[in-house]
Amino acid sequence: MEGSMVIIMEITGSINEVRKQVKEWRRQGFTVGLVPTMGYLHEGHKSLIDRAVAENDRVVVSDFVNPIQFGVNEDLATYPRDIEKDKRLCEQAGAALVFHPEAEEMYAPDFSTYVEMKKVSEGLCGRTRPGHFRGVCTVVCKLFHIVMPDRAYFGQKDAQQLAVIRRMVRDLNLDIQIVGCPIIREEDGLAKSSRNTYLNEEERKAARVLSRAVYHGESMIKEGERDADTILSQMRRIIEAEPLARIDYVEMVDADSIEPLTKAEGRVLTAMAVYIGSTRLIDNFIVEV
Ligand code: PAF
Repeated sequence: MEGSMVIIMEITGSINEVRKQVKEWRRQGFTVGLVPTMGYLHEGHKSLIDRAVAENDRVVVSDFVNPIQFGVNEDLATYPRDIEKDKRLCEQAGAALVFHPEAEEMYAPDFSTYVEMKKVSEGLCGRTRPGHFRGVCTVVCKLFHIVMPDRAYFGQKDAQQLAVIRRMVRDLNLDIQIVGCPIIREEDGLAKSSRNTYLNEEERKAARVLSRAVYHGESMIKEGERDADTILSQMRRIIEAEPLARIDYVEMVDADSIEPLTKAEGRVLTAMAVYIGSTRLIDNFIVEV
């Protein structure tokens, strides 16, 4: 790994510019890491960039609110954006390039090619957000082809997304190492998310119920409970006790295939999506049993 010299960070919205820059780094023998994001960066994203900077000579952060992964009634229009703050965070973390394209740069008016995945993308969030993972796979596949990184970094908070991307990389023989990084939490346990910004004071307090359920489920498994129904019903009870919370799903699945489990065995993902008021939040834990 090379990288002790000071890196002047650039920002571009142009696919050709990214390609030119990465080609030059390759000519110099540098390794390249990619951190795909939708911007409005927080400490969770920073932990991905830090890891990428530690493991690669040059790091590209993509900062793009991908329209095709949002459903018609979802929050594309209101999704928070702050590119100036994002630039500062990327620069401080040691990224070399921020790729911040307009939607028109990524999608031609007659764009018509999508990456569609079966099974892994169909349960959990895929059930309530039809088309979401098709949008995620398509944009991530495009980013991989634009940047051609050695490694790409994703957070475990989006555990199903991570499983979907690993499967896409395997199935399409993409020569990229996928690095999953731990969930970063607020002091009170709430998983960091750009969408936390939608919560008012009362909702923000109520949102603690997600991590409380996570910690409870995790400790049940650690203490020896294996029955999925028993674990999930206790977790659901904790969430249902909060008047502002409405469960979308709380489920136990295999962490790689996202197939439902009746017993906690293997690499177990227990995941939830919960509305707090009108904001949909996700959280999860993975244990090896
Ligand atoms: O996790 C996200 O922020 C997005 O789904 C991703 C991977 C950047 C694709 O738009």
